[in-house]
Amino acid sequence: MEGGRATPKLLEIPFQPKDGVFDLNMQATEYIWHNGKFVPWANAQVHVLTHTLHYGGGTFEGIRVYKTDRGPAIFRLDDHIERLFYSADALQMKCPYTQSDISKAIVELVRKNRLEAGYVRPLVYYGYGKMGVAPVGAPVEVALACWPWGAYLPPGGVDIKTSKYIRIHPQSSVADAKIVGHYVNGILAGFEIHGTKYHEALLLDYKGNIAEGPGENFFIVKNGMISTPPLGTILKGITRKTIMELAPLLGFKVEEKDLTLGEAYGADEAFFTGTAAEVTPIRSIDDQPIGGGAAVGPITAKLRDAFDAIVHGRDPAHDHLLTYVNLASPKAGNG
Ligand SMILES: Cc1ncc(COP(=O)(O)O)c(C=O)c1O
Repeated sequence: MEGGRATPKLLEIPFQPKDGVFDLNMQATEYIWHNGKFVPWANAQVHVLTHTLHYGGGTFEGIRVYKTDRGPAIFRLDDHIERLFYSADALQMKCPYTQSDISKAIVELVRKNRLEAGYVRPLVYYGYGKMGVAPVGAPVEVALACWPWGAYLPPGGVDIKTSKYIRIHPQSSVADAKIVGHYVNGILAGFEIHGTKYHEALLLDYKGNIAEGPGENFFIVKNGMISTPPLGTILKGITRKTIMELAPLLGFKVEEKDLTLGEAYGADEAFFTGTAAEVTPIRSIDDQPIGGGAAVGPITAKLRDAFDAIVHGRDPAHDHLLTYVNLASPKAGNG
């Protein structure tokens, strides 16, 4: 009971139908924060001549909210908002709100929508008013939405296939910014595996080394050493960073290095990381079973369990990475 009223029931993640994966259909919540105001979900609309809709010059984030004993908690909110502003900067977007405004609005949005667990999607875009490639003079607008969302990939392990498309060349864009237009690269790679037995694509970089998945960073384990491709062509993943911080605490060595497909095929273990994918074991790459085909390697399992404990608020040493929605301070970030 709060202020004499019954606490409303929280929105739960819907039933997850296949291989533990939610079907990714949208489940509406009550409110979306649009340009400074909470508006009903159905009223958060834009004009068809919105600049970002035509040219892809916008930025977004994907942030997870987890169910914990202390109510819903947002994972690494500050890191996500920092990356959002870094990406906006890359596009010369002058966001009319501060990082703290956005963090506070996200906490309030999750609270108002009574979301128990799910996903938060901030979007910063060039709005209506100018046409032509350069968005100079177009208004910078912001939308924040959240909804219940379950697993993105089968948690028990995925079969992946190398794409014919390569990850964006670092001199073609600001590769480590999370820019809307970059996702055409991932959409095309995703089309190649859609309707096949493969669960996800894998993109190489312009040198032929492994880059990442369409929405995931990539890791292998060989002889106890954890390796992941260096920054340069990939997104600077926040889950990747978490795993790199966590691995040494669990006694494992981790390195950033160029990885060839041959090395990946011969790995003892492989896994994807990402806000959506969390820590997802990779069972096979291009039909080559990884580590003799065991579904989840032992080091992957340890990292995944430790990650799960953090995000669900069961690891006091990492509690600072969570923003508890019902307990959030006015600053509203995770420090
Ligand atoms: C292209 C790409 N790589 C990697 C990731 C993983 O990043 P993070 O762990 O920050 O979600 C994502 C998801 O945001 C992505 O879109």
